[in-house]
Amino acid sequence: MKKIILLLLVITFASCKKEAEPTENLPQHDESAVAVSGEALFSGKGTCTACHLPDQKVIGPSIAEIAKIYKENNGSIVAFLKEEAEPIVDPSQYETMKTNFAITKKMSEAELKALEAYMLSFAK
Ligand code: HEC
Repeated sequence: MKKIILLLLVITFASCKKEAEPTENLPQHDESAVAVSGEALFSGKGTCTACHLPDQKVIGPSIAEIAKIYKENNGSIVAFLKEEAEPIVDPSQYETMKTNFAITKKMSEAELKALEAYMLSFAK
């Protein structure tokens, strides 16, 4: 009888340990992916790549051009994406960019900061 109880205890502990590990690790993984990857937001949820390429103007100015102008002017891309700051790159095309604010205004501060950091990394 003692042996059976001991065996049950060992099994219970062993299965507890196995179950605890994956549930501890998974959410952490997901959060860090969302929090740090401005690149993933830019091409994914933000749909920014539809209009912005790294070095070439398509519908919108290139990321490199935007980054250069924001660095020179010490501008805030975060504020721009919240529609709290005026356009400084190509105001004549502002209406087109405005259609994307529906997406960026729903983003968290951390997501907007990640997008800003990603874009500024293209400044030469
Ligand atoms: C429908 C096309 C389109 C999409 C999608 C788009 N943009 Fe733009 N974007 C533009 C155009 C056109 C301009 C130039 C007008 C302007 O400067 O405001 C622009 C300008 C910008 C600027 C410079 C603003 C300034 O000060 O003039 C930033 C920063 C920017 N976009 C970031 C983004 C980010 C980040 C995303 C994705 C979340 C995005 N854009 C998605 C078309 C788009």
